[in-house]
Amino acid sequence: MTTATHGAPAPAPGATGGYLSVRDLRVRFATEDGTVRAVDGLSFDLERGRTLGIVGESGSGKSVTNLTVLGLHDPRTTTVEGQILLDGQELTGAGERALERLRGNKMAMIFQDPLTALSPYYTVGRQIAEPYRKHTGASKRAARQRAIEMLAKVGIPHARRRVDDYPHQFSGGMRQRAMIAMALICDPDLLIADEPTTALDVTVQAQILDLLGDLQQEFGSAIILITHDLGVVANAADDLLVMYAGRAVERGTVREVLSAPQHPYTWGLLDSMPTLAGAVDTPLTPIPGAPPSLLAPPSGCPFHPRCGYTAVVGGDRCATERPALPAGRGAACHLGAERGGAVRRGGGGAAGAGPAGATRTDNGPAPADGPAPANGPAPADDPAGGGPANKEPGGGPSQGGDR
Ligand SMILES: Nc1ncnc2c1ncn2[C@@H]1O[C@H](COP(=O)(O)OP(=O)(O)OP(=O)(O)O)[C@@H](O)[C@H]1O
Ligand code: SF4
Ligand SMILES: [Mg+2]
Repeated sequence: MTTATHGAPAPAPGATGGYLSVRDLRVRFATEDGTVRAVDGLSFDLERGRTLGIVGESGSGKSVTNLTVLGLHDPRTTTVEGQILLDGQELTGAGERALERLRGNKMAMIFQDPLTALSPYYTVGRQIAEPYRKHTGASKRAARQRAIEMLAKVGIPHARRRVDDYPHQFSGGMRQRAMIAMALICDPDLLIADEPTTALDVTVQAQILDLLGDLQQEFGSAIILITHDLGVVANAADDLLVMYAGRAVERGTVREVLSAPQHPYTWGLLDSMPTLAGAVDTPLTPIPGAPPSLLAPPSGCPFHPRCGYTAVVGGDRCATERPALPAGRGAACHLGAERGGAVRRGGGGAAGAGPAGATRTDNGPAPADGPAPANGPAPADDPAGGGPANKEPGGGPSQGGDR
């Protein structure tokens, strides 16, 4: 199967909360250079059985957000404010022992780099079995048996023999599968996958995403999928959160965001990506400039130094007034959905090009209600670019607004 069919029904419109509910999360690090505002007022909800994709450039706060959910920051240098509710239980301020009971059991993470997350000194099997023993009190023998079953489930051939291998004896794809086995051995209700396929070739990447989809169907887990790759999101996620400078700047279902993106930053991300549906000579347009330092984030809209649409908004509003992200589907931009759509349709899709900039007529945006991602990635099982193949078109995540 593909991961394109496993999404649970979308939450009822107007519903509040979720299995995971994050409200106005703020994470700051005290450093020698000053305070890093890594996450700055982030809110989102996630139901069981659904996958939330989180995208954004390097340094936008994706990993910090999710490490904070797991309670994995050093409390001596980190300040966390806001609310993180997992199945109604408050995690911010929860003690280390309470968090440890939840980690591995109710929530687990597949880390960005399996080589650093797996110890070279212990066998793969032992590292997979350990959390199971810890959380269930199973015997060594039973935990080893369970590790073998999990290795087989994630597609490791000859699992009974390979369980005694060390991480360096596994290929990159096998290590990633071992990480998934480790994360899933206690059937966590919340699985956070941080760039789980970045280092893998496309074939293995597709297998891993299929595997996550299959396992989600079996266990009904809620999944957060962090990635740079909008093609991965199009195939594997139900809902999408676009992050910039520690904030959510756009959200909706994957179909909504990719077919009718509303935020100039999302336009920039899409315009900087190749698409299977596009002509081979279509120039890609990188977003000008670089993400801001989170030691001193820009005032107003944090994207304003890189945005080509500040003049359309007028005055100095973009530089002085922080745009709010509306609840549910929407973008944090002073243009608003309607004016933004008109501006983008009028040409100059790239974030930095502005309304008078170069158009991308050969690969331009689809109409707001059209099925194709606006210059976005074509899903792997839909090379003609027919829009995200999975997931219900309507009923986005029920999410509170950010500030
Ligand atoms: N322990 C820390 N101390 C100080 N700053 C930190 C710490 N951890 C992360 N940061 C900073 O917080 C910001 C967000 O980092 P984060 O790792 O969440 O980015 P990311 O979106 O996951 O990026 P990438 O795509 O490169 O993984 C960055 O500016 C990073 O340098
Ligand atoms: S138009 Fe203004 S508010 Fe909208 S993204 Fe650009 S700078 Fe931000
Ligand atoms: Mg990261």
